[in-house]
Amino acid sequence: MSGRHPALRAPLLTEAQIRERVAALGREITEAYAGRELTITCVLKGGFIFLADLVRAIEVPCTMDFMVISSYGMGTRSSGVVRILKDLDAPIDGKDVLVVEDIVDSGLTLSYLLRNLETRRPASLEVCSLLSKPGRHDNDVPIRFVGFEIPDDFVVGYGLDAGERFRELPEIWTVDETRL
Ligand code: IMP
Repeated sequence: MSGRHPALRAPLLTEAQIRERVAALGREITEAYAGRELTITCVLKGGFIFLADLVRAIEVPCTMDFMVISSYGMGTRSSGVVRILKDLDAPIDGKDVLVVEDIVDSGLTLSYLLRNLETRRPASLEVCSLLSKPGRHDNDVPIRFVGFEIPDDFVVGYGLDAGERFRELPEIWTVDETRL
């Protein structure tokens, strides 16, 4: 690829690998929720491309709602300070809620989010994250459906950004944080 940004180190996951795994996740979720209706909560912005592909691979009826949460600002590490910038439009009490996340790194954002959503009394509450960095969080971060477990490297593409860049890349790349 000519003109590749110097911070992009190497592709970690290709388009084909992502496509295949998302299809498999769709099948797992379809099986787990057979006969039920899903209320999907997507965390923006990072989750938007994953969500778009995932919902087309799920064969149970679903509705979608969005939250915007800030945890990083322009840096690359979670601060532990999580703010809801945009809340869900609709109540989730009594619903089977599936939170769709791009990546669980320290797990701070997800823990905060789950505590917050629990108070709204959903019938069930599960998480599907495309990526997880198990080396960075405790095993008790409850992720029911995981796309890929990856090493502790900063990654971009397929919705994930570094300072709002690279979301549009179809692959997932590791990044040299010193060259951003
Ligand atoms: P956590 O609170 O540390 O788990 O971070 C969660 C959020 O940080 C994710 O939803 C992403 O928006 C962002 N994040 C964590 N790791 C990465 C990464 O490697 N690339 C891009 N964004 C990341």
